[in-house]
Amino acid sequence: MNEHDPPVPVTVIGLGAMGKALAAAFLAAGHPTTVWNRSAGKADSLVADGATRAATITEAVTASPLVVVCLLDYPVLHEILDPVGDALAGRALVNLTNGTPDQARETATWATERGADYLDGGIMAVPPMIGQPEAFVLYSGSRPVFDQYEQALNRLGIAKYVGAAAGLASLYDLALLSAMYGQFAGASHALALVGTEKADLADFASSLLGPWLTAATVALPLLVQQNGTSTQAAAESDSPPDMQTVAIANIVTASNAQNVDRALLSHLLIPLRDLIGPPAHGRGLADMVDLIKKPVE
Ligand SMILES: NC(=O)c1ccc[n+]([C@@H]2O[C@H](COP(=O)([O-])OP(=O)(O)OC[C@H]3O[C@@H](n4cnc5c(N)ncnc54)[C@H](OP(=O)(O)O)[C@@H]3O)[C@@H](O)[C@H]2O)c1
Repeated sequence: MNEHDPPVPVTVIGLGAMGKALAAAFLAAGHPTTVWNRSAGKADSLVADGATRAATITEAVTASPLVVVCLLDYPVLHEILDPVGDALAGRALVNLTNGTPDQARETATWATERGADYLDGGIMAVPPMIGQPEAFVLYSGSRPVFDQYEQALNRLGIAKYVGAAAGLASLYDLALLSAMYGQFAGASHALALVGTEKADLADFASSLLGPWLTAATVALPLLVQQNGTSTQAAAESDSPPDMQTVAIANIVTASNAQNVDRALLSHLLIPLRDLIGPPAHGRGLADMVDLIKKPVE
């Protein structure tokens, strides 16, 4: 496909909050768009904007060479698509439903057995961001299929191909969500601490917490091992382990004193404590990644 080709027809199956945003982005970019949803009424506004409502799931699947699915979960996907799997033959199935790498791999095999090309995806955006430059969507699976439909997929957000193994997009998606929820947990703890003193939490969040979290991302390279070791990074760090030990202990002590639950924080800090004590001399933040990994059983 090149930029002069007419927009490829696309079918969107699943018109929840996210599926509707996906279909609207395709429509806005001029793609002939067919839509299907269990609750048919959710297609009304899209149909008013030019989408075609498929009366049946078979009609939906066979309407377009590119079939995008965005449903609650993988069991729902199979509930809907298993009965019409053979109709997928010769089409590209792009599954943007959140799931695990195992589910992605199983569904890739299922699709291949039915003669369909398969891409698994992870949407790193909320519905209002779809179609905007700050949205990005991860894809894994067939590279030729990604290349063929990249232009259409870019309508949803920047399309980022992460590898041929079907489970990779899901793995990266869940990893990024894990980082986000970890950050939310830390931020919630910070708000709880400050909230013990009748502070203006909205002001604290906008004027201090937000900028602080943004600034803290400069430390990310310290979490990544270079050439199998973090010693160099630790040695060059302006935040030596002994200093961090004191700060972390103070967070825990202050949490107790302010009557804020420290269980979450303590749990997050277990691996950090393991590497900042005296026996861990010369180790750095990047060693925390290895400490979090479970040994192979
Ligand atoms: N919303 C977000 O911020 C966001 C962000 C990133 C990724 N995602 C992912 O996008 C996917 C969809 O999320 P969403 O926000 O669109 O969720 P949602 O608004 O709850 O929509 C769920 C969709 O699944 C359908 N569904 C649920 N159970 C069904 C069943 N038993 N049979 C048939 N259809 C069924 C719903 O159909 P009905 O309309 O008939 O109920 C609807 O189309 C999820 O995997 C989610 O993780 C969402």
